[in-house]
Amino acid sequence: MPAIGLGTFGSDHVSPHEIAAAVKGAAAVGYRHFDCASVYGNEAEIGVSFETILRDGIRREELWITSKLWNDKHGEDDVISSCRKSLADLRLDYLDLYLVHWPFPNFHPPGCDVTSRSAVARPYIHANFMKTWRQMEKLAAMGLVRHIGTSNMTIPKLQLLLADARIKPAVNEMELHPHFQQPELFDFVVANGIQPVGYCPIGSPGRPARDRTSEDTSPTEDPVIVEIARRHRTHPAAVCIKWAIQRGQTPIPFSVHHYRENLAAAAGDPLTGDEMRAIAAIDRNCRLIKGQVFLWRDGQSWEDLWDLSGEITPP
Ligand SMILES: NC(=O)c1ccc[n+]([C@@H]2O[C@H](COP(=O)([O-])OP(=O)(O)OC[C@H]3O[C@@H](n4cnc5c(N)ncnc54)[C@H](OP(=O)(O)O)[C@@H]3O)[C@@H](O)[C@H]2O)c1
Repeated sequence: MPAIGLGTFGSDHVSPHEIAAAVKGAAAVGYRHFDCASVYGNEAEIGVSFETILRDGIRREELWITSKLWNDKHGEDDVISSCRKSLADLRLDYLDLYLVHWPFPNFHPPGCDVTSRSAVARPYIHANFMKTWRQMEKLAAMGLVRHIGTSNMTIPKLQLLLADARIKPAVNEMELHPHFQQPELFDFVVANGIQPVGYCPIGSPGRPARDRTSEDTSPTEDPVIVEIARRHRTHPAAVCIKWAIQRGQTPIPFSVHHYRENLAAAAGDPLTGDEMRAIAAIDRNCRLIKGQVFLWRDGQSWEDLWDLSGEITPP
């Protein structure tokens, strides 16, 4: 997997065509890894870019393309058809990685308020998740996807999956930035041979208002990051990307304006050991993507989604 990927979620304010143009521009400057998902609503436009990129001479084997199964398609009969739809939209014969986007089958309308709840929302039920996972394994056996993985999982959920999977997840995609380092989950996935892919690597400054709370902090405004950026004569976002790669996770920054700088940051001068240690010390345990819309019961708080007690939150 290439060490940095381009995120493609436009957070409501960047159009599918702008993102498709960024994918083409990013491939031209050297990106080979793209993080897509059906729910981002832009795979058809990005597919046109992939077709152009491949026609212009980049070989398919050089690219790493991820897509994700959305929450309303966890049903046994929906997984394979949903993957086929992403493949058709992206104009590809296979995906390098297909992820179960969230462990919950809970659907909500795009752009809805965080207090919105689906009437049929469910907790995590491992037996149901395994039915979905068996279909993911089938996709790998069919050759439609090279690797399968998870996203937004917790240690107790991954422990169950690792015990029951025939094909173990190759990747867990999770929020990771200097203010949300998730050290326990990070160490757990690495110890189990699962590659951590880090979303919101620079603190998602463009996320919509509904995903902001007054307690949220911004890693790119942290004085430690700002000082390291000054020393390296670069932007704080570049420091977040360097830190991510040197720590061993794969960052997937979204960008339509700064993707060139972000790739340069990935390839440029590394941070020193002291700088890495200084960043390790500024973790604020500040989760930005809290996932409130996936809650299944009235009166719950977003913490219930993340199994903070070390056990899966009971139904
Ligand atoms: N698996 C999941 O559940 C999940 C959840 C969330 C996100 N994701 C994935 O992760 C990707 C990244 O997350 P994200 O988009 O929320 O957050 P992010 O990558 O941390 O932040 C993206 C924002 O930062 C700006 N930016 C990027 N590079 C910059 C630079 N060098 N200098 C200044 N500003 C810069 C971008 O603006 P410009 O466009 O103007 O450059 C954009 O507004 C998503 O696109 C998606 O693919 C996955």
